[in-house]
Amino acid sequence: MELYLDTSDVAAVKRLARIFPLAGVTTNPSIVASGKTTIDRLLPELHSALGGQGRLFAQVMATTAEGMVEDARKLRSIVPDLVVKVPVTAEGLAAIKLLKAEGIPTLGTAVYGAAQGLLAALAGAEYVAPYVNRVDAQGGDGIQTVAELQQLLTLHAPGAKVLAASFKTPRQALDCLLAGCESITLPLDVAQQFISSPAVDAAVAKFEQDWQTAFGQTSL
Ligand code: E4P
Repeated sequence: MELYLDTSDVAAVKRLARIFPLAGVTTNPSIVASGKTTIDRLLPELHSALGGQGRLFAQVMATTAEGMVEDARKLRSIVPDLVVKVPVTAEGLAAIKLLKAEGIPTLGTAVYGAAQGLLAALAGAEYVAPYVNRVDAQGGDGIQTVAELQQLLTLHAPGAKVLAASFKTPRQALDCLLAGCESITLPLDVAQQFISSPAVDAAVAKFEQDWQTAFGQTSL
């Protein structure tokens, strides 16, 4: 499977790349806009925070297919192996087809339904990103959407992968993986929750305390 961080926080990527088996970093326009720098500066910084390895994802801003293709070329001129995120609108689907013909890898984003995601994959997207928490927030079932999309891709577009996105809890991410999706992208707070909990900290502290009591030190 592939694990990504959904962030523009370069320092956090550097820190967590040491700990997590990271496949790369995803961004979206809101994430980039929340940072303090331009996309031209940010993307190379994220790339080097990953040690020059791993995949970066950044999104087009144009709303026409031709404009999206131009944006995709611009993004790829900043980081050559970047995966271009394209919203799965009617124009977005046309752009995904054009970019596929150019050999530029895409991720179909802003996916709220399994059929919408399947269309992106059939158009040639390498990844499809269903928005789990946003579907839940609309009164839908984000995990069910991921499970259906995964099944559709397995049956009809086996070359494409679900990259599940928009998480507010580790449980949502686990449920997507259990539904068979191959890749997820986590915001920093959810990634952090995977490795820190008061119960774990308390267990480690108790080991130290018992060792200290018995041997007068906390080292071996
Ligand atoms: C992924 O493609 C999206 O940009 C992102 O995961 C959305 O997350 P949010 O719903 O927490 O904003």
